[in-house]
Amino acid sequence: MKNIIVTGGCGFIGSNFVRWVAEHHPQVRMTVLDKLTYAGNPANIEGVPNVELVVGDVCDAALLSEVVPGRDAVVHFAAESHNDNSIAGPEPFLRTNVEGTYRLLEACREHGVRLHHVSTDEVYGDLALDDPARFTEETPYRPSSPYSSTKAASDMLVRAWARTYGVAATISNCSNNYGPYQHVEKFIPRQVTNVLRGERPKLYGDGLNVRDWIHVEDHSSAVWAVLERGRVGETYLVGADGERSNLDVLRAVLRVMGEPEDAFDRVRDRPGHDRRYAIDASKIRRELGWRPRRADFLEGLAETVAWYGANRAWWEPAKDAAEERYRAQRR
Ligand code: NAD
Ligand code: DAU
Repeated sequence: MKNIIVTGGCGFIGSNFVRWVAEHHPQVRMTVLDKLTYAGNPANIEGVPNVELVVGDVCDAALLSEVVPGRDAVVHFAAESHNDNSIAGPEPFLRTNVEGTYRLLEACREHGVRLHHVSTDEVYGDLALDDPARFTEETPYRPSSPYSSTKAASDMLVRAWARTYGVAATISNCSNNYGPYQHVEKFIPRQVTNVLRGERPKLYGDGLNVRDWIHVEDHSSAVWAVLERGRVGETYLVGADGERSNLDVLRAVLRVMGEPEDAFDRVRDRPGHDRRYAIDASKIRRELGWRPRRADFLEGLAETVAWYGANRAWWEPAKDAAEERYRAQRR
């Protein structure tokens, strides 16, 4: 891998991946293809060596036929990524997540380029709190939200294009990421920035929903492992054994920030709210030798809280708009 395209490389995970690759594989040239939606910020990759930014849409077939030929791979992070937004307005999710993946598959097919598709554990639906099961690569798809159903659709397209047309594609389905540069609409940054602004965190429903947290650096190293050593046509689940309830995470945030553990508001639940996600990552560990290096959640959380404290100028411009979207969605 010497010359790759990273779609969505100005978003949270894409930009962390770009910085991770620049640090660990400095010989790789990267072209970030990003539409710069509300979630994309070019500052996230500013100053990273060997990176070129092309501002554009993954649905733009003409643009793809210019930028895709001759690359070693396309790493596809670009998506509409937020469940609450998908419930309020699903259309952009269909366009970017489904049509965008289709356009990229067609470009990769035509020009014989490898595609790695970055997806989510949410395609498997949810598990009960008392169910000992975890998701594996064999778990049937059962998405619940408009967001996760469009990601499931995009995964299906990738599988079909790999089997029918022989597109050299791989898929990874990862659990909930946290770390620096995550948009303030998401759970952890929303609560941290609320506290930093003197506002109370907001917990949906009973807060017992479980997410399986992984540090974004570990997701980056997993995507790289699949790109380098993954078997074409295969799917790899990525997770770091980080199951925690939202209530537990919120209390940890409040503790780290020196606030009382009950200093938050309970608000109306998300419609269709998935109860629990849990990843069994044995396949990527066994086949590719991948291991999470940042599995100490409380340490990673404290670092993340410190990052938001030190980078107010990065998140403050987006905060009011994100909170306005929440007010409109919950009216
Ligand atoms: P994000 O919302 O922070 O970033 C998405 C990026 O894609 C932004 O830079 C945005 O400008 C860009 N984009 C959106 N529509 C585009 C389009 N039509 N053309 C080009 N660029 C476009 O998302 P994220 O949280 O970094 O997630 C990245 C990927 O990882 C997504 O595919 C998501 O489904 C997947 N994923 C996320 C998580 C998580 O916890 N956040 C976990 C597993 C998988
Ligand atoms: O599992 C992977 C998925 O994780 C990714 O595919 C998605 O792109 C990513 O957004 C994330 O989805 P979630 O819906 O799990 O993440 P979110 O940060 O929106 O919420 C995490 C949990 O916190 C969820 O149970 C809802 C709850 N929540 C969220 C917000 C924003 C609250 O209790 N309060 C809040 O204010």
